[in-house]
Amino acid sequence: EEAQRIRGSLLQWYDENHRVLPWRTASSSDHQKNNEEARAYAVWVSEVMLQQTRVHTVVAYYNRWMAKWPTLHHLAAASQEEVNEMWAGLGYYRRARFLLEGAKSIVRGGEFPRTAAALRGVKGIGEYTAGAIASIAFNEVVPVVDGNVVRVLSRLKAISANPKEAATVKSFWKLAGQLVDPSRPGDFNQAIMELGATLCSTTNPACSTCPISDKCRAFSLSRNSETVRVTDY
Ligand code: ADE
Repeated sequence: EEAQRIRGSLLQWYDENHRVLPWRTASSSDHQKNNEEARAYAVWVSEVMLQQTRVHTVVAYYNRWMAKWPTLHHLAAASQEEVNEMWAGLGYYRRARFLLEGAKSIVRGGEFPRTAAALRGVKGIGEYTAGAIASIAFNEVVPVVDGNVVRVLSRLKAISANPKEAATVKSFWKLAGQLVDPSRPGDFNQAIMELGATLCSTTNPACSTCPISDKCRAFSLSRNSETVRVTDY
């Protein structure tokens, strides 16, 4: 099946080529459940930072953040002033406020929500962040869609649609949901984002080294005609 082959190629590429980033190795020395919650906290902080800032810059902010607040409980005990000070330079302070308020509410609630649906109940956690945390930390089979995913999928399926329209975004969530790997959803989601952030770039895609170019409709069309247009996101 086509989806199965795309998953396999993408995951193999990710296994061999993924960037080593601090939030990808986050764990605690405690038992399994604590490891998952440590991962969830790490994914949450990093994904919120990544929404507005490039990876290279985020790594420095992330490492400083984790040195000061190594667990959700440490963060929940912080003041808004401390958090703002740590956030300085990242912009959109609302996101830092949501992180602190969210940490407090999760600690009050007693345990980290483990599904995308439950995570959406935390103020400030949107569909993207909920999907990232649920799939990467808790292995829930849910998709994520960001600008990178829209670009990869629009090329893969040669879909030309306006990504600023709500209906377009909705259709990409549906498509991503059909494609996400049922046994490794978190790695799959990171793989497709990583592909979009690296090889499948907006202006100069590296199709010759892409693991799924043989399944990519835009690639096959562009070899046969000069006229293909894909969503330029
Ligand atoms: N961009 C934003 N989040 C990402 C992730 N988890 N993996 C790869 N690229 C990303």
